[in-house]
Amino acid sequence: MTDKGFTLWFTGLSGAGKSTLAQYLVPILRERGKNVEVLDGDEVRENLSKGLGFSKEDRDTNIRRIGYVANLLSRNGVVSVCAAISPYQSVRDEVRSKAARFVEVYVEAPLDVVESRDTKGLYKKAREGVIQNFTGISDPYEAPTSPEVTVHTGKESIEESAGRILEFLEAQDLVAKAVQAGQ
Ligand code: ADX
Repeated sequence: MTDKGFTLWFTGLSGAGKSTLAQYLVPILRERGKNVEVLDGDEVRENLSKGLGFSKEDRDTNIRRIGYVANLLSRNGVVSVCAAISPYQSVRDEVRSKAARFVEVYVEAPLDVVESRDTKGLYKKAREGVIQNFTGISDPYEAPTSPEVTVHTGKESIEESAGRILEFLEAQDLVAKAVQAGQ
């Protein structure tokens, strides 16, 4: 079973740690023998989704495109790690329904935490009204109703969050357990 591809879908507010967790997991998954690709919202919006904005319609289009590519990859044995805000439950469910194996990870962090991090300076701009329709400030974020894993990046270390995701993937037989030294 561990040679099977799957989609690892991160959803959460901007700055919650989706991309960071995705990048942290890539070398670990590779060490465990997986082929891995990352589809990151910021990067996808520079190419595959260039020109799309942040209306519900454009966000849904962006998510459908990411889900489509993730399926092409995963059906060829690749682990597709997707990191986009993906604020709407309905389109996440739509993407899930088209995937053979879909693991949704809710990267949870309270708004005040992500806003105080403000890694890209966008929350400040959103509060000032310079950026409109900003998720969590002036646009909705629908938290997942039944994610496979929830990580709390405001209180857990990245090692803890990644560890819990890996435990789930191992339990589902999607990823082989790490080989211990001496084995
Ligand atoms: S999604 O809603 O379509 O899933 P996606 O993850 O691709 O969003 O892109 C979000 C990134 O775009 C944010 O991390 C941020 O850098 C940038 N961004 C620019 N404008 C907005 C906005 N109005 N709302 C959210 N993110 C925005």
